[in-house]
Amino acid sequence: MPIPTPTAEAAGAWPPIDVEQLAQLAREFFSATPGNPLPAGVPSGPLPQPTTTQAAGLGAAVPGLNLLPSGPDQVANLVRPAAPRLPHAAAPNGLPDALVTGLPGLDSRLGGFVVGVPPLAPTPPRERDAGPFYFIDPARHPGAHGHHAGAVPDLAARSATRTPFDVHAIRRDFPILAERVNGRQLVWFDNAATTQKPAAVIERLTHFYEHENSNVHRAAHTLAARATDAYEKARATVARFLNAGSAEEIVWVRGCTEGINLIAKSWGAQHIGAGDEIVVSHLEHHANIVPWQQLAAEKGAVLRVIPVDDSGQIILSEYQRLLGPKTKLVSITQVSNALGTVVPVHEVVQIARRHGITTIVDGAQSVSHMAVDVQAIGCDFFVFSGHKVFGPTGIGAVYGRRDVWEKTPPWQGGGNMIADVTFERTVYQPAPARYEAGTGNIADAAGLGAALEYVERIGLPAIARYEHELLAYATAALKPIPGLRLIGTAADKASVASFVLQGHEPAEVGRALSEEGIAVRSGHHCAQPILRRFGVEATVRPSFAFYNTCEEIDRLVAVVRRLARA
Ligand code: ALA
Repeated sequence: MPIPTPTAEAAGAWPPIDVEQLAQLAREFFSATPGNPLPAGVPSGPLPQPTTTQAAGLGAAVPGLNLLPSGPDQVANLVRPAAPRLPHAAAPNGLPDALVTGLPGLDSRLGGFVVGVPPLAPTPPRERDAGPFYFIDPARHPGAHGHHAGAVPDLAARSATRTPFDVHAIRRDFPILAERVNGRQLVWFDNAATTQKPAAVIERLTHFYEHENSNVHRAAHTLAARATDAYEKARATVARFLNAGSAEEIVWVRGCTEGINLIAKSWGAQHIGAGDEIVVSHLEHHANIVPWQQLAAEKGAVLRVIPVDDSGQIILSEYQRLLGPKTKLVSITQVSNALGTVVPVHEVVQIARRHGITTIVDGAQSVSHMAVDVQAIGCDFFVFSGHKVFGPTGIGAVYGRRDVWEKTPPWQGGGNMIADVTFERTVYQPAPARYEAGTGNIADAAGLGAALEYVERIGLPAIARYEHELLAYATAALKPIPGLRLIGTAADKASVASFVLQGHEPAEVGRALSEEGIAVRSGHHCAQPILRRFGVEATVRPSFAFYNTCEEIDRLVAVVRRLARA
């Protein structure tokens, strides 16, 4: 078949596809019941249980079966391949982008074990307890170790109860994953820095600007009412996503950094004084260190640090020893952005609460990987950034329990946050408006709402299970590479596989991966203290999301192995 010229019209130049035949095939497949068999050639009876590898996208369970659409709605996608893209990037290491991007956007589904995505509506009830899905330590969780080299004994049992998870269907929701970089299919392993956006989010933003754009001041006119509804519905979605007590407990901010600064400059300025102590952990991102240093310098307070063990997990006994009558605040990450350590924040918070200490949980790296329940954690504040959970940049949220907001003064002054202003005095709104001076990021709030609804439809328990398999696979594949040292080996980890490679600067490894179309962050990850704790200034940091596959990990491992041999 000749490769068509990649012009915008080229989609129409493809040989005709027999839509009716394909639709008929799909109808037969989905109408198959015990008394109503599958089409010839497709084995009947229960689908074989996937091996872990297959579930993550490797191995052919039933050759050819995966070419069938996993839902009737996918027929339309199969018969309407994505339009070829125009050349857009240089290809220093191989095939010209113009050539390969001319191919239609069909997935290579042969060999993947596709069992179908859950129906997209309505939103299923949340499973509050995501379970111990983040573990790489076989001693702690027998049978759950990486499966790179062979079968995992307990997999059949786990697979029997798994939620169907069709990574290929999910990938089609993310247009950018079809991008070619340096002549190769993009592999996005920089999810800890930012995540890619599903079409649902992109379309939500477009819809806002096409149909709803206005400032939010409900009474004024119709578009103001639409924009207000969009903004407040998104706030309610955030509240549901975090299991907050109410939407009034959710304050919009630009992201985690602004959220922590808000708390430091409002609650912190009011409640932290000379000699008081603020406790953070050694794992923190700079955003959860610098605002507290600034506050401590201003107030004469002291910053104290929970140490970590050699795996990168906080030492709870040392944490308890740090607490005392002067401790006013514990601010801690739920997942380390540099190492992937999952911190037992529930225990950390409960211990602090027994001492009457206020707590902040930084959820920047957790909300995309595990179900978060702020009421179950019991924290006073929780912050997260929208762009790390498949939403737009420039929008995030601070959860604060109602009674805590009531003890928190405003930080920025201006419009929206006031109830009444005279030259003599100002009366403030209650939360959340009190902390939202000026025009907010209305469209991106709506986009974040769409992102969270998208994540809810897939389901965080299913995401957590799948990502655990990816992390276990990557860990088992990277570990034996000569000269490679994993940085961060805690028993509980989420989606980050930081490493250094002897004889190669992290930046050099990052460049070699980029040449193959693989995006990772290499550097200090805005978490210099924890990297220095492990004696390094920088690492290579592949970080995974639920749209990644084991084939992509294989591509990364191949490059790292090549460098290691050199
Ligand atoms: N905090 C982001 C990261 O970890 C930027 O890369």
